[in-house]
This record gives sequence, C-alpha cells and structure tokens, in this order.
Amino acid sequence: MDDPALQALFLPFLDGTLSVPARLAFLRARNGQGLQQFRTLFGRSAIVAEQSFRPYADALPPGIEATSLAEGQFDAVLMLPPRQRSEARGLLAHALELAAPGAVLVASVANTQGARAIEGDFERLAGPLVSASKHKCRTFWRHHQPAEVDTALMQQWQEDAAPRPVADGRFLSRPGVFAWDHIDAASALLAAQLPADLAGHGADLGAGYGYLASEVLARCARVEALDVFEAEARALDLARINLDAMAAKRERPPALQYFWHDVTRGLPRRYDFIVTNPPFHQSRADEPELGRQFIRVAAQALVSQGRLLLVANRHLPYEQTLRGSFMQIQVLADTQGFKVIAAKEPRP
Ligand SMILES: C[S@@+](CC[C@H](N)C(=O)[O-])C[C@H]1O[C@@H](n2cnc3c(N)ncnc32)[C@H](O)[C@@H]1O
Repeated sequence: MDDPALQALFLPFLDGTLSVPARLAFLRARNGQGLQQFRTLFGRSAIVAEQSFRPYADALPPGIEATSLAEGQFDAVLMLPPRQRSEARGLLAHALELAAPGAVLVASVANTQGARAIEGDFERLAGPLVSASKHKCRTFWRHHQPAEVDTALMQQWQEDAAPRPVADGRFLSRPGVFAWDHIDAASALLAAQLPADLAGHGADLGAGYGYLASEVLARCARVEALDVFEAEARALDLARINLDAMAAKRERPPALQYFWHDVTRGLPRRYDFIVTNPPFHQSRADEPELGRQFIRVAAQALVSQGRLLLVANRHLPYEQTLRGSFMQIQVLADTQGFKVIAAKEPRP
C-alpha cells in the first residue's frame, strides 16, 4: 500500500462507521487508493482540497483542485497532519475553523509519524475522540461541538504555527518548512563557497524560506536576476517576503521571480548558474533519486558555460549522476558530513 495514512483516513466512511458528508474539506490532501475508492462509491460528495506541496497538488484527481480555505461550513473535515508538531497543531486548529457544528472531523497519522501525540493534541483541543488502529496508522474523529473547543488553546496553536522572525531576525519563517528555525548547516557551507563572480540570470532550486538565495544576492553583486523555485507554497511565500525586502536594499535591485514548481518536471528557461541544496526525502527515508533528478534538470537548464553549485550530505550517491551530466566537477569543500560541489559544462 503506497499511502497507508490516506487509506486509513477514508476507512470509517468506506466501512459505514461514518455517514457520507455532502460537503467535505480535505486538508493536506493526497491522491491514492482511499480517496479513489471514496469517490467511486460516493461521487455525490463535493470535495474541496488544500495542499501546498506542488507534487501532491498536481497529483490530485480531476475535479479536485488545491485551494486555500479561510473559513467554511463543511459537513466533514478530513486531514493528514504533518509530522512537525506545531505545524500539525496549527492544522488541527484550522480544521475546526472550517467545520460546521455537528460536522465530523477526521485525522489519520502513521504510527511512525507521531500518531499518538497528534491524537492527544486533538483531544485536548476539541474534546473526546473515537479512534481506530489500522494499516499501522491511527485514525481518530469527533463530531464538532463548538462549545467544547478550547478556544484559548486554539488561538495559541494558531499563533505557534504562524510566521515569525528567525536567525536573529534576518528571516521570516514558520514551523514545518525546511530547517524552519535556523540556518541549515549544509546551506551555510555552500553559501561560504559561493564564487563572488556568479553573474547574469540564475536560479535556486528548492529555495525553502530563501536563505541560500539571500546569500547569492548578498555575495554576488553581478547577479542580475534570480528565479526562486520551491514546491512548498508555505516556504515560497516566506522566500518572497524575505528576498524582496533584501533586494529592495540593493542599489540596482536584481529581478526576482518566484515559482511554485516541482523541479523534477524541468525548468522553464536556461540559466547562467544554478544553486541548490536539493531535497533528499519527501518522507523520512532517503530518496536519492530526488536529488539526482535535480542535478539532471539543472544540467539541462544551464547554458553551455553555466555552473551548478550544489551541497549534499556526503553519503548521498550523486557522483555518478554528476559525472553523467557535467564535463567538469570540482569538490569545493568536504567537511561536517557535507560536500560542496561545483559542476561546469553540462553534457549535451
Ligand atoms: C534541503 S532544502 C533547502 C532549503 C533552502 N535552499 C535553504 O537554503 O535552506 C530543500 C527544499 O526543496 C523543496 N522541495 C522538495 N521537493 C521539491 C520539488 N520536487 N521541487 C521543488 N522543491 C522541492 C523542499 O520543500 C525544501 O524547501
């Protein structure tokens, strides 16, 4: 089974434990078996989805588009909470905002992703739950009773999940985005190795809240334009705020563009240089193919004399892909468990 939490989420509807809602909000929505079975059986339910991670949003089936929900009166709110605790608590609070009185709120979390903690949090917030254990996941639900919601806790958790200054106020960030409350050591290592002569039109692939891109702007005065690619809209929104503020302070502000984009699908134009600290997993397990695809995509998008500057955990097997994609490879630093690599001359 490719997505056990998703399968477990829909089970109480599929087995008749819960009645089928007319209007359903699905938060952190993913496509897969459980959702498809639900739609086949109960096609009359209108589903509205929230998903800020582009690959998951793109994979949603026709008829369900990812959107952003401010408030609503849904008969059911289903959710797949993330692992990061403050982010998950923010999501539970958000779910309550969307539920009509009496609506069913359902969440499903894999046991290895903090299921017990999130279930406990939900009970504290909303009142006693019914729960089930299946597919190594916990699924728990409750019919919304507004009078029983701990509204002070709800407000506190919404504040805890909101953007705030980090790294001595240099950046705005929020729980759940990559290395959200600090500067990532690997990105810092790459920043320290950035050649000051980077120039022209560049790109940052997987920009997070914008740290690495900000270092490009600070250290490389001849950069005229930078395209910022990030699959997670929550991070990209922060990068936009952080980088626009910084660019505005330059004498000749570089042109910045932001792309909510799945980099593995390729890039829209060619670049003089690309910087990246590529993602190496979507779940908890290492998925080196993700980083390898970032390298291939970068090589395809660089001009013939273009340069890729990359940092990666030294144990990740990227060498072969680098050699297959570029004529020249140079290790600029190999320390603290990371390697910084400059790759030039993409192979045709
Ligand atoms: C290792 S982090 C690097 C963050 C940032 N560059 C920094 O300076 O700290 C990798 C980033 O890639 C993003 N990401 C993951 N999969 C992606 C994809 N398919 N396309 C674009 N970005 C992706 C993640 O959301 C994450 O922000």
